[in-house]
Amino acid sequence: MEYKGLSESYTTLMRAASEVMRRAYVPYSGFQVGAALLDRDGHIHEGCNVENAAYGPTNCAERTALFRAIADGKQAGTFQAIAVIGDTEGPISPCGICRQVLIELCQPDMPVIMGNRRGDWTIATVSELLPGAFTPSSLHKEEHKDQ
Ligand code: THU
Repeated sequence: MEYKGLSESYTTLMRAASEVMRRAYVPYSGFQVGAALLDRDGHIHEGCNVENAAYGPTNCAERTALFRAIADGKQAGTFQAIAVIGDTEGPISPCGICRQVLIELCQPDMPVIMGNRRGDWTIATVSELLPGAFTPSSLHKEEHKDQ
């Protein structure tokens, strides 16, 4: 798939997301999503959505990629970019829970490349996707320190 105007490295990331999308476990929605997270060493951590009969435990592709990277020993805040792809009309838009997890584990200015299978894409930073977020620093109030 060609992503017109997208840089070579982000295109590579989007294609990795597109590959892993095919491994999605989606018996309920049938809606496959893929994500590819670029770490600071240039390695790509892939994720797909994994659904559950109880619906609630479903893990989105973005979180699968982020959690895999953390489990592989990568540090929060050190990632370069994440690409996400789904079979949507326009570029896919990450859900609210994933936006909150992105804020937790990535720098606020980290780019999120969102695309679809037709070659549409758009980029927003993590903080643009969740303005006014409750962040780790929201917990650091002086009077909470002794408790
Ligand atoms: N999903 C993702 O994996 N990422 C998104 O950005 C949007 C939604 C998944 C969750 C569920 O398995 C399916 O897509 C339908 O909502």
